[in-house]
Amino acid sequence: MERHEDSAWTAKMALGLDFNYAMADFVAEHGLTFEELSALEPRMTEIRHRLEEGRHSGRLAFLDLPYDQGLVREIRTLAKPLLEFLWEFVVLGIGGSALGARALHQALCHPQHNRLPLGRRQHKPSLWVLDNIDPDWLYGMLDALDLRRTGINVISKSGSTAETLAQFLFVYRVLKNRVGEDKARERIIITTDPDKGPLRHLAAKGGFRSLPVPPAVGGRYSVLSAVGLLPAHMVGINISELLAGARFMDQRLKERDFLKNPAYLLAALAYLFATAKKRPIWVIMPYASGLAGMAEWFCQLWAESLGKKYDQQGRVVEVGSTPVRALGVTDQHSQLQLYMEGPHDKLITFIKVEKFQHELPLPPLEMGLKELEYLEGRSLNELLAAEFEATSFNLMKAGRPNLTLTLPEINAFTIGQLIYLLEVATVVAGELFGVNYLDQPGVEGGKLTTFGLMGRPGYESYREEIRHYQPKLLKYVAH
Ligand code: PA5
Repeated sequence: MERHEDSAWTAKMALGLDFNYAMADFVAEHGLTFEELSALEPRMTEIRHRLEEGRHSGRLAFLDLPYDQGLVREIRTLAKPLLEFLWEFVVLGIGGSALGARALHQALCHPQHNRLPLGRRQHKPSLWVLDNIDPDWLYGMLDALDLRRTGINVISKSGSTAETLAQFLFVYRVLKNRVGEDKARERIIITTDPDKGPLRHLAAKGGFRSLPVPPAVGGRYSVLSAVGLLPAHMVGINISELLAGARFMDQRLKERDFLKNPAYLLAALAYLFATAKKRPIWVIMPYASGLAGMAEWFCQLWAESLGKKYDQQGRVVEVGSTPVRALGVTDQHSQLQLYMEGPHDKLITFIKVEKFQHELPLPPLEMGLKELEYLEGRSLNELLAAEFEATSFNLMKAGRPNLTLTLPEINAFTIGQLIYLLEVATVVAGELFGVNYLDQPGVEGGKLTTFGLMGRPGYESYREEIRHYQPKLLKYVAH
């Protein structure tokens, strides 16, 4: 039996949400009253029905990803022969096709996974997520890899993203030159829409192995599909446990009282602070280095889902809240000054870890320094916990609302819960803001203009439009 099949263990691993310091009882007029919060109840009931309908119709297909056991088997089968000879694994992708894999790697692997000798990482490859096209950077990343032992996972839901496709064309040629065409083909796995898009056609034409992204699952909601699961499995993450964590959260989110439902509650708090309380900035600050990538992944999910010009009825609303990532304790010596004394425009959410894998006790003082005696017999774990408590408390005392998500530990099960919780919270917030949280017309706009500039047939008008501005651009340039 795996540990996630033991209900006593899973109960101990449940995530918590503490929102005391966001309430008026603690931060007076800067906080919410219980009445303000519970006034959302009727809307939350409607939203619950919308989500149930969206799940039923397949519009919110990402909600069912954790139940796809067939995919887990497919990934294991596909990966098995590759794991016998690969030392490095490269993801080519961007946005939702990159950030989830990086976040999982950072959270669930050894912090120096990529640098450990193979034997110390159970012969699992290192992982490199190449989500940029800076030529010097890309060249440098490839330059340092042993291409004879490198696998490439090209990930694009649409199969047409210029950055990813260009990377693929370049990397495939480099790989072919190094190992020959047959071996290069063997080392490439394409993750894309099952039926359509240029990358799907390329997979069929070129005879590459491939994995599907369900048609109704968009990039930023796809981390629990093959998009995140294949890279995670390659580096030794227990993807069954990850999905079990997400399913556990799914069951918890069936709670109808929204004040006891962590996703609905989190969405309600974020929404009310952004709107009624005029705090348009949402700071996400984990107190664990391994969770920095999760904060980055979530910021993309939140920003791209909620920052919208039009509401669901097509009226111009221009809404959203700006997610900002910070890291405890590091940013206590950087951003915290602003959070503590700057404008009252932020809600701060901490992610706290109760138990780290390692306990690092501080040694007895040998040099007899009186000023350091308070550290004697304590541990880095205690210091981190004290710094977190002090920061959230002092923010509260300064009238700065903050809340805390607690993970009992960092493991695949708790990370699965966290992902699912944050995805559902985003969708619920999208309903509260009244926007389409599944599209990204602002991002698409940039893609179209780039196609125009790069001379893609059919996109000439985008090129003409931007070129039209060129003569005017000489006016305000400092030389
Ligand atoms: O979340 C999204 O939809 C986007 O961030 C996409 O993931 C990103 O634009 C890349 O798109 P694609 O996966 O189609 O290459």
